[in-house]
Amino acid sequence: MSRKKIAVIGAGMVGATTAQRLAERGYADIVLTDIVDGMPAGKALDLEEAGPVVGYDSHVLGVTTTEPDHYKALEGADVVLVTSGVPRKPGMSRDDLLGTNAKIIKGVCESIKKYAPNCILLLMTNPLDAMCHVAMQATGFPRERLIGQAGVLDSARFRTFIARELNVSVESVHAFVLGGHGDEMVPLPRYSTVAGVPITELLPPDRIDAIVQRTRQGGAEIVNLLKTGSAFYAPAASFAQMVDAIVLDKKQILPCSVLLRGEYGVKDLFVGVPVKLGAGGMEGVFEIKLTADEQAQIDKSAGAVKELVDVLPRVM
Ligand code: NAI
Ligand code: 2OP
Repeated sequence: MSRKKIAVIGAGMVGATTAQRLAERGYADIVLTDIVDGMPAGKALDLEEAGPVVGYDSHVLGVTTTEPDHYKALEGADVVLVTSGVPRKPGMSRDDLLGTNAKIIKGVCESIKKYAPNCILLLMTNPLDAMCHVAMQATGFPRERLIGQAGVLDSARFRTFIARELNVSVESVHAFVLGGHGDEMVPLPRYSTVAGVPITELLPPDRIDAIVQRTRQGGAEIVNLLKTGSAFYAPAASFAQMVDAIVLDKKQILPCSVLLRGEYGVKDLFVGVPVKLGAGGMEGVFEIKLTADEQAQIDKSAGAVKELVDVLPRVM
C-alpha cells in the first residue's frame, strides 16, 4: 500500500511544525509550500534528512508557489492543510487579520480546487471560522471535506489548565471548547471531565471561571510572550490529531469548525462543535444537550462569526 499524500500550504511556524509532526507519523508523503523563494524546499530537505535519525521514510517535497500552476505539486493529495497567512502581533485580535488573510485564502483555495479537487481540506488561518467561509466559497467543497481547526487547540489549553489545577495527568482530562475561535469561544465545564467526573464537581466556581477566562485568552497569552508571531506547537499538534483521525479512519469525536445547517441553532456559518472525523472527513455533527445559558453563549459566539462573515465582501 502506498503512503497517503498530504500537502501543507504555508511553511511558516505552524505549517513547518505540522509538516514535521506528520512526517514523523510515517504514514504519508508531504508537500510543503510557501511563496518565499527556496524556503519550503530548504525546510523539506531538512525534514527528509531527519528521517534516518528519527526513523521515518516519508518523502517531503518543498515547493515555492509564486504562480498558480506551481500548485500542480498538489495533484493527488488526500488531505490539504492551509496555514498560509499572517499571524497576530501583540495588541491585535484574530479579527484584525480578516482582509489580508481572506485574499490569501481565496487565492490558495482556488488553486487547491483546481489541482486537488477531491481532497479533504483543513484550515488553520485566522480568523479561522470566517476563513473557512472564504474557503467554502472559493472551492465549493461539501461541508464533509472542509473543516477548520480551533476547538482541538482551545480544548487542549482548557485541558492543560484543568490538569495543572488538579495535579493530574493531562491524559485523564477531557474537555470541550465550542463556538467560534475568538474571545467569545465557549468552554463547557459541565462536559469537561477528569476520569469521567465533571470538573463542576471537582473545582469551586471561582477556579473554573479563572480557567475558562485563561482558556479564552490562551492565544493572546502566547502572542504577548512571543511578541512576534503566535502559538505553533500546540496548533500543529492539533492539526496532526485531526489528520490522524482522517487518515487512520478513527471516527474520533473532536471539536472542529464546520458549516452548520441548523445544528446548535446555527445556520450557514462555520462554528466549532463536536464532530466525528474519519476517512470521509466530517462524518457527522455530534449534538450534545446544552443548558439555556450554554446555548446563549453559543449564540453570542456564532453572532461574532457572522459579523466577520458579513464584512467579508467589503474587505476582499
Ligand atoms: P507564519 O507567518 O509563521 O507563517 C505563515 C506563512 O504563510 C509564511 O511563511 C508566509 O510566507 C506564508 N504565506 C503567505 N501568503 C501565502 C500564500 N499565498 N501561499 C502560501 N504561503 C503563503 O504564521 P503562523 O504562525 O504559521 O500562522 C499561520 C496562520 O495560522 C495565522 O493566520 C495564524 O493566526 C493562524 N493560526 C491559527 C490557529 C488556530 O487555532 N486556528 C493557531 C495558530 C495559528
Ligand atoms: C491561537 O489561538 C493564534 O489563534 C491562534 O493561538
